[in-house]
Amino acid sequence: MEKLFVTGGARLQGTVRISGSKNGALAIMAGALLASGRTTLRNVPKIGDIFTMVETLRSLGAEIETNGDWLSIDATNLTSCEAPYELVKQMRASFCVLGPLVARLGRAKVAMPGGCDIGSRPIDYHVKGIQTLGAYVDTDHGYVYAESLRLRGAPIYLDFPSAGATQHLMTAACLAEGVTVIQNAAAEPEVVDLARFLTQMGARIDGAGTTTVKITGVRELHGVDYTIIPDRMEAGTFGIAAAITRGDVTVTAAAPEHLEPVLPKLQEVGARIDAQNDSIHFRMVDRPLATDIMTMPHPGFPTDMQQPMVALLSVAEGTSVVTENVYERRFKYISELQRMGADIKQEGRTAIIKGMPQLTAAPVTATDLRAGAALVVAALAAEGQTEIAGIEHIDRGYENLVDKLCSLGAEIYRADSERRGTALCLA
Ligand code: EPZ
Repeated sequence: MEKLFVTGGARLQGTVRISGSKNGALAIMAGALLASGRTTLRNVPKIGDIFTMVETLRSLGAEIETNGDWLSIDATNLTSCEAPYELVKQMRASFCVLGPLVARLGRAKVAMPGGCDIGSRPIDYHVKGIQTLGAYVDTDHGYVYAESLRLRGAPIYLDFPSAGATQHLMTAACLAEGVTVIQNAAAEPEVVDLARFLTQMGARIDGAGTTTVKITGVRELHGVDYTIIPDRMEAGTFGIAAAITRGDVTVTAAAPEHLEPVLPKLQEVGARIDAQNDSIHFRMVDRPLATDIMTMPHPGFPTDMQQPMVALLSVAEGTSVVTENVYERRFKYISELQRMGADIKQEGRTAIIKGMPQLTAAPVTATDLRAGAALVVAALAAEGQTEIAGIEHIDRGYENLVDKLCSLGAEIYRADSERRGTALCLA
């Protein structure tokens, strides 16, 4: 079984290019099902979740070609309305093909995604929203069945500004008859980018990026050529890695405006940040300072940055308080940081982090994507060599993480733990 081996101590220095947004690309790939035509996507990250979504769309009859970060999807002739469990269980975002399938074919059978290590991850907002748009929906034996001759626009209120539900229902409403208004909608950059993509396909969408999104249904959408936005979570992760190693890193092909909630927090802990058009320069000279964080829907501090940020605060000067307001179980990785010497006390949705001068290497296991990022960040500054298992989680969302970190001077490699390699960074 492959693991990551990280020897802490190197100060990261240099420039790294950010890949396209995982969460942006996944929603757009589901949206491409709405067009009876070919859509070309550029700047698509080469990561596990994208490969899973490609297989899901192929299982529905879409013709897909891939070449590097380029991807074409022709959904003209869909041959199936069923998204199988073995694909949906791997990745929750594939559940969002349900709305486009009902809109295009009049019916859909999609496996329920199930929970994961950060929370129960229910889909009640999605199901209720599709029902509100006039579909007959039933759940049976772990599948959601939906049928409608033509969806009808309607007002939808989300109890929580769910990013996925906003994206899914906005997509489904594009081909509905009449007007849909989603209230208490999510405003994440990936929601705004999906609306921009759908509008280029011929959809009529107003208000994306605010709490009220209005979609006026049209009869047909066409394929487009579209470039995915940068991955703000990858950019943030590299900024945090630069901070914990007291390094000097510039991330390029990034979108600083998408990191508005994160950059001020990194400045609070002492990072010097210079954001230009599509690059962000992170420098850290001294030990980070403690700060407090509350995760919130956008434009609040993003929950996906909570875990790497707690790793940074584990070696800060002072005590930090981090409150996770989005997921009910997103602190599971703390026990792994504690194995590395972190002094963290969890009380419900709040973690109290007493900064230590330095963490120490230990064998640890990633339990989800951002937990894996947190363990890599911690290992980069820990004394000794840390072994990280569960790296399949990291491969789901970070493209070429080892190569990119090596190019910045990190001592990191991946190897089969049984036949432990000696391959160090040759970059
Ligand atoms: C998206 O997940 C992202 N994933 C997540 O990133 C991200 O953490 C999350 O949005 C919040 O920003 C993708 O875009 C593929 P939600 P999503 O619906 O849409 C509750 C990563 O690491 N909820 O905004 O599934 C839910 O339980 C991943 O890249 C319901 O109760 O998140 C949670 O508490 C992790 N019922 C809250 O809303 C529903 O029907 C926010 O979830 C839907 C959600």
